[in-house]
Amino acid sequence: MRNFIWGDWESTDLERDENTALLACVRVQGEVMKTIIFHEHTTSHSPSHRYIVLFLKKYIEKIESTHNYDLDDELMEFYVSLAATTNLSAGATGMCYKTYTLDKEQYTKVVLNEEQMMISQGTTGLQTWEASLRLADFFVEHPDIVRGQKVVELGAGCGLAGFTCAAVGAAHVLSTDCSAAVLKLLESNRQKNPAFKDSVQVAELDWEHTDECAKLSDSADVVIGADITYDPTIVPVLVNALKEMSGVLGKSVMDLSETKMATLCHPNPTADIRLVLITRK
Ligand SMILES: C[S@@+](CC[C@H](N)C(=O)[O-])C[C@H]1O[C@@H](n2cnc3c(N)ncnc32)[C@H](O)[C@@H]1O
Repeated sequence: MRNFIWGDWESTDLERDENTALLACVRVQGEVMKTIIFHEHTTSHSPSHRYIVLFLKKYIEKIESTHNYDLDDELMEFYVSLAATTNLSAGATGMCYKTYTLDKEQYTKVVLNEEQMMISQGTTGLQTWEASLRLADFFVEHPDIVRGQKVVELGAGCGLAGFTCAAVGAAHVLSTDCSAAVLKLLESNRQKNPAFKDSVQVAELDWEHTDECAKLSDSADVVIGADITYDPTIVPVLVNALKEMSGVLGKSVMDLSETKMATLCHPNPTADIRLVLITRK
């Protein structure tokens, strides 16, 4: 649904724009239902009902704006019945699937089960945060940073950034977190991605426990983390954890910031995009 090509309905003379006109015709509306809404992947890994309703709402509004085209009965019936039973407010709760496509051709996907609420079961880790999207995009664009490397992800949450490293060729990824609820979800998300699940392992790690971090020094060529703290007082703890994980990084905090590709902070940090880090030996 996210990759649906909407065409140019606003400025369109649909008689002349064949592609957009095609999307409006009743027969193609049926195809959209079959190949997107009732597609086997959509039904087995369903996005939130809110997302489906909003997608169909936009599609229906576009079709209605053309005047010349009727609405497919099945599309309308499905939309009305789903909309009637769906909480359309942004504060919807419950688990849903999100499918992240890593390439334009949509061959490489990461499928994650996630909570719709930002905070649930006392943790922020059951939903994918904006910083993880940025970090995953970064690895798609620069796979050489992790290809053939052993990666440890700190505060992995649902797992997107680390799973993306595995998908683009990391030798091994250790996805870690400290929350029991997050670890359970992380492991079940690992299982849902057969294409690379064997190169990913899930483990409990609280980076405030430096002795535990030290045990990982052989497993970490690259350490990554997305949105793992917004509290500046935690940063020294985090740096300490990184020191324990890698002798090279452990030289000093300054080495960390001077190392090529040591830290990546989004140029315009917002409340949603906090600390994104990549360190490597
Ligand atoms: C805002 S979420 C980000 C999750 C994921 N990285 C993302 O970007 O979607 C912060 C994550 O850090 C984890 N976390 C917080 N403190 C931690 C600690 N001391 N050790 C390990 N993980 C921690 C939380 O459990 C949570 O999963």
